[in-house]
Amino acid sequence: VRGLLSIEDLSLGDIKHYLDLADRVEAVPADQKRLLLESKILGALFFEPSTRTRLSFEAAMARLGGRVIGFAEPSSSSISKGESFSDTVKTVEQYADILVIRHPREGAARLASERVSIPVINAGDGANQHPSQTLIDLYTIRKITGKLNSLVIGFVGDLRYSRTVPPLINVLRAFGNNTFILASPAGLRLSEIPKDDPDNVFTETTDLREAVVHSDILYVSRVQKERFADQLEYEKVKGSYVIDTALLASAKPTMRILHPLPRVNEIHWGVDGTSHAAYFDQMRHGVSIRQAILLDLLGVRL
Ligand code: CP
Repeated sequence: VRGLLSIEDLSLGDIKHYLDLADRVEAVPADQKRLLLESKILGALFFEPSTRTRLSFEAAMARLGGRVIGFAEPSSSSISKGESFSDTVKTVEQYADILVIRHPREGAARLASERVSIPVINAGDGANQHPSQTLIDLYTIRKITGKLNSLVIGFVGDLRYSRTVPPLINVLRAFGNNTFILASPAGLRLSEIPKDDPDNVFTETTDLREAVVHSDILYVSRVQKERFADQLEYEKVKGSYVIDTALLASAKPTMRILHPLPRVNEIHWGVDGTSHAAYFDQMRHGVSIRQAILLDLLGVRL
């Protein structure tokens, strides 16, 4: 049974297929859209908090005429009585046509996919993967620039613990001829920076401004306060990774800012009203991309 567990399971052709399908879904009139997944049920099991992923899957399903069952946190399920993860997913398999799972443990969605015979979508497993978010990020970049290659993309903030940054970089590397400016505090560098990549250019810096000045797309990642053993170290870096309108005066007029969200203080609210802010569009695209994923995995052709 096909599912969506890791972006690395997809070829570039598969990725383009999902992005093109999302474009086609957007073009379907609302009354016709409501018939596409009529009578289908999504089981949504969220073992970790979520706003965008859970609600956009719910919105995607509702607008396609389907229904959602599940839980937003496991304490309301029989897990609180000691039921195992395996029995929980086996149970929901009896009631649903497809599952989406967010879990703090790496590999949880893959484990679920081995237990059930319906498609499983990984909605984030620990610091590992969040493949529907990666597709949203790619879809948003393509909507803005019309391409996924020959771009300068700045990644700023916490690049070490982000589960969205490394998979996105890997896909953009495969499209090729991209320049990556990685701007992070020294302790939060991307853990693996490709040394011998003939198709792309990598630059590392601790200077946020360098990424702001040169980028076509600026992908911002929250500095994760909870990861710092020494809070003084956090205090030192947090102010240097805040994007505000003054800093954006040095950006290209066409530069657009993405952020998977939630944000804390890394993008000042004053940026929201500028033409640089693309993160609200990005979250809106979550519905189209997740509709494409649901339709594809449930075998509906458009
Ligand atoms: N981007 C994202 O996964 O947001 P949530 O944690 O709110 O789902």
